[in-house]
Amino acid sequence: MAMKNRDNYIKLEFSSLPENVALARVLIASLVVQVDTTITDLEEVKVAVSEAVSNAIIHGYQNEPNNIVNIEAKIVAGELEIVVEDSGIGIEDVEKAMTPTFSTHPDRMGLGFVFMKSFMDNVEVLSEIGKGTKVVLQKKLVNDGSCARVAT
Ligand SMILES: Nc1ncnc2c1ncn2[C@@H]1O[C@H](COP(=O)(O)OP(=O)(O)OP(=O)(O)O)[C@@H](O)[C@H]1O
Ligand SMILES: [Mg+2]
Repeated sequence: MAMKNRDNYIKLEFSSLPENVALARVLIASLVVQVDTTITDLEEVKVAVSEAVSNAIIHGYQNEPNNIVNIEAKIVAGELEIVVEDSGIGIEDVEKAMTPTFSTHPDRMGLGFVFMKSFMDNVEVLSEIGKGTKVVLQKKLVNDGSCARVAT
């Protein structure tokens, strides 16, 4: 059994393929379960990461598969920080993009940022047109004893 609650850091670089959304989610989940946290926290982080990575692939790279998505994640004293970065088209108006139900795609819900914001303690979006987008997701992982943790 590995040591619990140790500080940790990972960096991952992968192709902008839709199947890599699940890959990123599993990787982050495996990092989070190293900390004594709740299933709720784990599930919430998984959703937030999926939304950020999906956005990088679908919007940032407009579903073009020959691009790179970067993820860096660290846990320091139980504080999780995940950075999802693309070098895609960028966001013209971040505030507008984060508005509930706003989407540049008519067939999408425009709820990705809503999930990220409600499931994480802090969401920061840095973006530049033609340069790319960086989404910083932060959450304090706590075990309040209300929920037993299980493996992913
Ligand atoms: N990485 C990104 N690069 C470029 N544009 C982005 C990126 N992430 C988000 N956006 C823009 O922000 C908008 C809102 O994103 P959000 O995830 O909230 O909704 P959505 O992706 O359109 O729909 P849903 O997530 O519900 O499928 C997107 O429609 C897109 O225009
Ligand atoms: Mg989205």
